Amino acid sequence: MERRVTSSVIFLLVSLSVTPAFAHNVQAIFIFGDSLFDAGNNHYNKNCSAQADFPPYGSSYFHHPTGRFTNGRTVADFISQYLGIGIQKPFLEAQLEVANGSRKEYPSNGINFASAGSGLYRATNRDLGVTPIQDQLQQFQALTDQNLIDRKLVERSLFFFESGSNDVFNFFLPFDAPTVTPDAYVKAMLAEVEHFVDQIYKLGARKIALFSLGPVGCVPARSLLPGAPVNRCFGKMNRMAKNYNRGVENIAKNISKKYPGSVGVFGSVYGIFQLYRTTPSRHGITNVTDACCGDGTLRGMLQCGQEGYKVCENPNKYLFWDYFHPSEHTYKLMSKSLWADNKYIHPMNLKTLANLTIVL
Ligand SMILES: *[C@@H]1O[C@H](CO)[C@@H](O)[C@H](O)[C@H]1NC(C)=O
Ligand SMILES: *[C@@H]1O[C@H](CO)[C@@H](O)[C@H](O)[C@H]1NC(C)=O
Ligand SMILES: *[C@@H]1O[C@H](CO)[C@@H](O)[C@H](O)[C@H]1NC(C)=O
Ligand SMILES: *[C@@H]1O[C@H](CO)[C@@H](O)[C@H](O)[C@H]1NC(C)=O
Ligand SMILES: *[C@@H]1O[C@H](CO)[C@@H](O)[C@H](O)[C@H]1NC(C)=O
Repeated sequence: MERRVTSSVIFLLVSLSVTPAFAHNVQAIFIFGDSLFDAGNNHYNKNCSAQADFPPYGSSYFHHPTGRFTNGRTVADFISQYLGIGIQKPFLEAQLEVANGSRKEYPSNGINFASAGSGLYRATNRDLGVTPIQDQLQQFQALTDQNLIDRKLVERSLFFFESGSNDVFNFFLPFDAPTVTPDAYVKAMLAEVEHFVDQIYKLGARKIALFSLGPVGCVPARSLLPGAPVNRCFGKMNRMAKNYNRGVENIAKNISKKYPGSVGVFGSVYGIFQLYRTTPSRHGITNVTDACCGDGTLRGMLQCGQEGYKVCENPNKYLFWDYFHPSEHTYKLMSKSLWADNKYIHPMNLKTLANLTIVL
């Protein structure tokens, strides 16, 4: 009798352990990209001059600068809060803490590898010391290779990817004129996205969200470019962003077909952003043209916080916080939409993706 009970208990345990009951409960996010996601990697990178680690960055939410290029939280931070997990540390901070012994292991809620100013081209802002997407991937790979992050955790996590704005913006810089056509330039960017997805899957990623670029040609910083209009968005730049976005959407659509046991989603940041730009008052926004913080035309000619900057009274009435980046309010609206609406994210929103059971 006793033996029988024991074996049925064992049977129960075994059957529980093969049921992926845990899978609808994502505990971690791994984040790759540029300043839209950077949570302080550049700050911990002493070689890097693309920084937002001075006031008034962070002033609306953290009440001190964190290295984030906005007045508060980014999309990655909001999604973490919606999931009920802590916000991710920058990789370089976690690495320092592990090295100096103040932390035993890498965090279990994911890691943020994003580096402001970086792109899909290694050459993009190399002179500023940024960490390109390929090196971010290598940082992640080094952790998985050494078993410093659990493979099971990786398979259950969300992966966020967003890169390319800096490549597109830099294509239009007056010096160092590009020698390739816009189409060839975008094609090479997309090859890097495909490579990224390929590698990240091999390293265990199964829930992969690729985000589009926003309308890069609408950023206040376009007033730095001699050829760009300031009374409307820069059409050529937006066309290049849209062209790239179409390619990323196709890559995302293919993920589940190409990589067994995985799901890819495509979040149209472009679409969401255009909605706020065209119907601002419905979204609590009064100023869609100028940065809240900066100086010069559109407040787009000087980085926020640099000597001589001006700052608006109510940042969250502005679409843009600084010359390149949305305000926390914009990020919040965007996050809500990506999390729970189905209009700008396909084939499912992040909430559904997080809750999905993938049979491994
Ligand atoms: C900074 O630059 C030095 C020398 O080029 C390099 O060895 C080091 O890895 C760099 N550090 C980071 C965090 O990129
Ligand atoms: C370890 O590094 C972290 C991150 O830089 C720092 O906050 C902490 O004070 C350091 N701890 C020790 C014991 O040096
Ligand atoms: C998507 O997959 C189809 C069929 O497998 C292939 O022909 C196409 O080139 C792929 N597209 C991308 C963008 O990967
Ligand atoms: C937008 O903000 C800028 C900077 O504060 C200001 O100069 C401009 O008049 C504002 N535009 C609108 C439409 O409110
Ligand atoms: C997650 O999925 C389970 C069933 O698989 C469902 O019962 C639960 O309500 C879902 N949770 C959310 C937050 O959607």
